[in-house]
Amino acid sequence: MRKKISIIGAGNVGAATALWVARKELGDVVLFNRTRGLAEGKALDIKESSPVDGFDLAIAGTDRIEDTTESDVVVLTAGMPRQPGMSRSDLLQMNAAIISAVCVQIATTSPNAVLIVVSNPVDAMVHVAAKATSFPRHKVIGMAGILDSSRFRTFIALELGVSVEDTNAMVLGGHGDFMVPLPRHASVGGIPVSDLLPEDRIAALIERTRKGGAEILALEKVSSAYYAPAAAAGQMVEAVVKDKKRVLPCVAHLQGEYGIHDLFMGVPALIGANGVERILELRLNASEFDALQKSADAVREQVACFGDQTLHTPSPDLQSPASFGHG
Ligand SMILES: NC(=O)c1ccc[n+]([C@@H]2O[C@H](COP(=O)([O-])OP(=O)(O)OC[C@H]3O[C@@H](n4cnc5c(N)ncnc54)[C@H](O)[C@@H]3O)[C@@H](O)[C@H]2O)c1
Repeated sequence: MRKKISIIGAGNVGAATALWVARKELGDVVLFNRTRGLAEGKALDIKESSPVDGFDLAIAGTDRIEDTTESDVVVLTAGMPRQPGMSRSDLLQMNAAIISAVCVQIATTSPNAVLIVVSNPVDAMVHVAAKATSFPRHKVIGMAGILDSSRFRTFIALELGVSVEDTNAMVLGGHGDFMVPLPRHASVGGIPVSDLLPEDRIAALIERTRKGGAEILALEKVSSAYYAPAAAAGQMVEAVVKDKKRVLPCVAHLQGEYGIHDLFMGVPALIGANGVERILELRLNASEFDALQKSADAVREQVACFGDQTLHTPSPDLQSPASFGHG
């Protein structure tokens, strides 16, 4: 029995995620958009690439949410993207209404699904999705850290003229201006970047990572990034449907880890069939810890914008948090 993966929103990120998931044959795909014809057209276009690309699965486009029934994974990309000059926070109210309405429906049509939220501002939207579905919190995850880390890895590779495949990096915290790239945990072939690059160059790469989305938006003007976001969302889908137990930086619900309570935010998490199966605590130094608390404050501010968001859902049944990494 193949897994059923539904993608809500057939815009740039949604369609690119559908293509990524299809090419990897992760399961049958349903692409949903409220605009009649759009998702059907994208799905048909992807299907027509399958004889050439050599993948074979069912891929359907629809404007009927019922067609997503009994999905194993639902990826939420519906909403408005950022326009030039618009902050992620400007999107808050607009996208909260969209995500909330869709999630209420998903809760009845796919009550056992793992939700992967992409829509921005993503940390707050994960909170909205958890509230609207009342799903156990470990089954509601956000995509940000994989993308931010991938951007950091790309810039390190470009700077050093090495393969991106040999780079490693970790970005924590809220997605956006308060993200927390951790240069101490960035390496190339196991060698810390601090041994390979001077401090000012590392600082410049961090700044470029922080502004990674804005850089693309400024170049393209009419659309924001979607290839890298789709690959990042796809990697999360793969971790869930293949129960891979990947350790990936994702927006997960914190209950005291990193000294943060009752907040969804980017941390390294073990992702498998049950969604977030464990949260991993890196040993942070004082300035990293402070940066993460500032990031948490920024996310809390966004969540506070849309009134009472108290979660009454079951707590994740996670194993006790583990520590790893350098002290
Ligand atoms: N988390 C991240 O790192 C990250 C990265 C990139 C983009 N994003 C966010 O992902 C979202 C999608 O970006 P995009 O570039 O694909 O935008 P887009 O405008 O291309 O696509 C959004 C789609 O959602 C659809 N939509 C709107 N309301 C809907 C509803 N109620 N039901 C179903 N579909 C609905 C629109 O018709 C549109 O097709 C944005 O919020 C963007 O900011 C997040």
